Amino acid sequence: MARDILKTLKEEHDALRKLFEEINGTTDRARKTRTDLLERIEANLMPHAKWEEQVFYPEFKKRADRDGLKTHAEAVTEHHAVEHTVIPEVKAADVETPEFAGRVKVFGEMIEHHAKEEEKTMFKMARELFTAEERAELDEQYEAWKASDEGMKAVAAARAEMQRGMGREQVATRH
Ligand SMILES: [Fe+2]
Ligand SMILES: [Fe+2]
Repeated sequence: MARDILKTLKEEHDALRKLFEEINGTTDRARKTRTDLLERIEANLMPHAKWEEQVFYPEFKKRADRDGLKTHAEAVTEHHAVEHTVIPEVKAADVETPEFAGRVKVFGEMIEHHAKEEEKTMFKMARELFTAEERAELDEQYEAWKASDEGMKAVAAARAEMQRGMGREQVATRH
């Protein structure tokens, strides 16, 4: 079967869904499991999100009609909310607390909402806007990007930025 970027992105959403299901099932005593799962969630999410932002969303936007532009704007705003607010709050919580459990639950809910919208709306539009050959080519580009300096730098920069956001959240959520 031909490669298809939309299929790859959907599979990555499903992998994230499974990781959130696992982390939501942990107890407050599961320090190591929670830490490992959160690390895996970030390791899966960041390349996906950065590539969407830097390559897929701009390509989509170029071809989109008014509804597509609105969908694009929603997706970008959701990415920002997760990266700048939700993840820093999760990371500011001690993993052995109900605060962590509550924040990680919201993180998973945001990802579920966003992934579902992409799958049901944006990817559906993209199936019309991109030919099968273009979707196969994007899939190859994505794989190469993940292993490239450019891709790794983009992910590292986003993670460093979240680390700074976490410092701010620790102050803001101390009460
Ligand atoms: Fe996305
Ligand atoms: Fe996505």
